[in-house]
Amino acid sequence: MWGICSRTMVKVGMAKPCGLMKPCHLVKPVSATRVTGRYLTHQKGLPNLPVPPLQQTCERYIAALEPILEVDEMKHTNELVDEFQKAGGVGERLQRGLEKRARNTENWLSEWWVKVAYLEYRMPVVVHSSPGLVLPRMNFRDKQGQIRFAAKLIAGVLDFKTMIDNETLPIEYLAGKPLCMNQYYEVLSSCRIPGLKRDSVVNHAKSSRPPRHITVVHNFQFFVLDVYNSDGTPLTADQLCVQLERICSSSLQTNTEPVGILTTQHRDSWGKAYVNLIKDKTNQESVSAIQRSIFTLCLDGAMPRVSDETYRSTAAIQMLHGGGSQWNSGNRWFDKTLQFIIGEDGTCGANYEHAPAEGPPIVALIDHVVEYTRKPETIRSPMVPLPMPRKLHFNITPEVRKDIEEAKNSMNILAQDLDMRVMVFGHFGKNVPKAHKMSPDAFIQIALQLAYYRMYRRCCATYESASLRMFRLGRTDTIRSASSASAAFVKAFDDPSKQNTEKVALMVKAIKAHRSYTNMAISGQAIDRHLLGLKMIAAEEKLTMPDIFTDTAYGKALHYQLSTSQVPSKTDCVMCFGPVVSNGYGVCYNPMDDHMNFAVSSFNTCEETNAAHLAQAMEDALLDMRTLLERTPAAKL
Ligand code: COA
Repeated sequence: MWGICSRTMVKVGMAKPCGLMKPCHLVKPVSATRVTGRYLTHQKGLPNLPVPPLQQTCERYIAALEPILEVDEMKHTNELVDEFQKAGGVGERLQRGLEKRARNTENWLSEWWVKVAYLEYRMPVVVHSSPGLVLPRMNFRDKQGQIRFAAKLIAGVLDFKTMIDNETLPIEYLAGKPLCMNQYYEVLSSCRIPGLKRDSVVNHAKSSRPPRHITVVHNFQFFVLDVYNSDGTPLTADQLCVQLERICSSSLQTNTEPVGILTTQHRDSWGKAYVNLIKDKTNQESVSAIQRSIFTLCLDGAMPRVSDETYRSTAAIQMLHGGGSQWNSGNRWFDKTLQFIIGEDGTCGANYEHAPAEGPPIVALIDHVVEYTRKPETIRSPMVPLPMPRKLHFNITPEVRKDIEEAKNSMNILAQDLDMRVMVFGHFGKNVPKAHKMSPDAFIQIALQLAYYRMYRRCCATYESASLRMFRLGRTDTIRSASSASAAFVKAFDDPSKQNTEKVALMVKAIKAHRSYTNMAISGQAIDRHLLGLKMIAAEEKLTMPDIFTDTAYGKALHYQLSTSQVPSKTDCVMCFGPVVSNGYGVCYNPMDDHMNFAVSSFNTCEETNAAHLAQAMEDALLDMRTLLERTPAAKL
């Protein structure tokens, strides 16, 4: 039984329905208990996530299937949906169960979501779940420059952390509504812990002794670096520079076993390897220091040299998986919620473990840090000597060595398989759609539909993340970008029998339909999380799974060959992630005012897909849509 969660396909374990619903003592419930005052008042004022009406979701589900199903399949699914929603039917019973849960929880979805979408999802977090983020290439090209920049970056993160700790972060808004700020409290000092069947997340910021150190990894060797002076002030960039130099000069040897690569494994394998690893007390202490740290800083070794043209794509690979065991995949702890990655050649970015947060809070933090690194250093460093950063030791038993070898092999296969293309679309940005009074995001999504249709002559189930942060502890729902309106537009676009005025009218309709779906999703009225909730109630109540969830149409609806997300930022960066199905694409984009950054991924083992081809088709589609608008004056519409 397959259910959809985040952008990923997640097995909702019907074989063990009760297991699904047991409160997991390991899973830290997402809550806002640590914080007080201003923040708590804000959080309390946010509305609860609604449960949409059953009939509305059923109607919208049918509408969403139309562009991706054949007519005869539609007929069968229509019958199943009618049966599901009829008066006195199972749908009503599940709906009542979900409404009851909504009355008794802060957010009926969020705890389930973290479990099902992330902690019970067993594929490696690398590529399959954790996004990478590529920053513009920085202005340094050697070890000294790397260290100096890293020191400023750490100082910038600590500056942001002060705003989190003091609850002075400005409240964010979407469509004029205040957003839940909880995710900001989940990204620092937290870490995912592998389990045998299900992982957990711990957040040490909420402990009575919150951490005062970060972990630094260089040449696969981990160090604890205290980042606060004894008087509680954060270390200055100059102080941090001295400490990073000490770390680098005491980790020059490059033949260390890359223990960090264990975190790239399939979660079941890593769960077992973790038990082996921490049997040893030294290893256990070292792992615990990493888990407890505020974040991890990865000072990377060289990556393969590439031309300027492919630089950003290679940098995206470095951020997403490190390039394989011979490069930097072992210079990571992928379970760590936040890892900053800095190369010697000016490459800079991050990787984050997705369970605690979505991209936008991470990017807001990074925007702040980048701005901070550009400011001149004004704070004078105290003259007190600092303790030597502490190296973390690992005892590598034959069993652990075997696990490391296995992890290297699987990581290298995955690295070989991932195809990544970063495209900077320089012809225009949000400015053009805005000038035509169109939502830029909808314009991009409809261009993507056109690009895909031109490559495959069909539409596919398409996922776009929509924020649910207007609600307390809200995460995401799905905007289904393939609609009947988008299908009508893409089919007409290259049809020579159609007039331009008709094509523009279809474009406007498709863009409006997308924007309207977006509004519905961000206001908690989309279909996907609601259907998941109904399915979870069926599992919880140990009911026979209703036919609509075992229907092949449901499987098709969740087979996202286009998995997409907009992650906007002030900095000229782009986030990237892998496809969620073997024959699909991952597409992440950052629309800036006058250009747009895209990161397109696919798997090399799939003959049908090619990241570079989709990126090219996307560029053509955006340009062709603009040309059509320019050639068709509004008066003619
Ligand atoms: N005419 C002119 N301007 C318009 C317009 C129109 N018809 N419609 C929108 N705009 C403007 C907006 O005012 C906005 O202006 P700004 O640049 O000054 O802010 C801009 O165009 C962008 O709007 P739009 O392109 O419609 O997108 P959005 O900002 O509303 O974002 C989503 C849409 C779906 C991306 C957003 O709602 C969301 O949910 N984001 C979170 C996604 C997420 O969590 N991703 C991470 C997953 S890891």
